[in-house]
Amino acid sequence: MSAQSPKAAGAAVTPVIETRGLRKVYSPGTEAEVVALRDVDLTVMPGEFLAIMGPSGSGKSTLMNLIGCLDTPSGGQYLCDGVDVSTLDAEALAVLRREKIGFVFQGFHLLPRMTALENGAMPLGYARVPPAERRERARAALEAVGLGARLHHRPNELSGGQQQRVAIARALINDPPVLLADEPTGALDSRTGEEILALFKRLRDEGHTVVLITHDAHVAAHADRICVMRDGQLHEATHEELKA
Ligand SMILES: Nc1ncnc2c1ncn2[C@@H]1O[C@H](COP(=O)(O)OP(=O)(O)OP(=O)(O)O)[C@@H](O)[C@H]1O
Ligand SMILES: [Mg+2]
Repeated sequence: MSAQSPKAAGAAVTPVIETRGLRKVYSPGTEAEVVALRDVDLTVMPGEFLAIMGPSGSGKSTLMNLIGCLDTPSGGQYLCDGVDVSTLDAEALAVLRREKIGFVFQGFHLLPRMTALENGAMPLGYARVPPAERRERARAALEAVGLGARLHHRPNELSGGQQQRVAIARALINDPPVLLADEPTGALDSRTGEEILALFKRLRDEGHTVVLITHDAHVAAHADRICVMRDGQLHEATHEELKA
């Protein structure tokens, strides 16, 4: 099944994400073999806000990791902004990941000993960006997500929603066109979740492409478009699935 954006029809614009027959098999040829993705065709156009739903274990994080270039597929192709990522060497891939993609992990993945400011500055790289600029950019990113008053707090001194916002600020620090978020509201109460969703919508309105994974139909309803993953296969959500 193919998941084709309505915006893609007839447009000369390059999809920001395009997978063709993407497959992922973990531990192939062993007893532990898991076929996590089966021929996933997904096209996402610039400026779309897409939600991906589906049961636990259906392959959502696996797909997100491939789109984020954190893992390599077992088969098929992935074009990020028109570039076949399999043609890139490690260095070029690192540049693409840094410049094109912000990743908000399932769980926050913040470093416990570091302050919000230090966590936010992580993707800037110690060597590449001078310390004063690192601090200034991290401060601006944290202010943009409403955490200007918590710059020097460590993760265990922040609420869950605040930690999630630090993770989002970190993903945005290089101003990447694509923001990938794996269950960004999963650990949050509904009001805090709404705040995070409002933030994603604002980012979409500012021209970012947002792909968000969620179990929650109410969360997915905020997106412009919803796809569903089942047993490693991806398809556009049907009317019945949206009602459920
Ligand atoms: N590193 C791995 N090695 C082996 N199998 C894996 C690995 N990562 C995931 N899997 C398996 O691949 C399948 C898809 O996992 P994935 O993490 O993509 O699911 P998910 O849809 O994100 O689930 P959840 O909603 O629980 O986060 C699962 O059956 C899982 O057990
Ligand atoms: Mg997952």
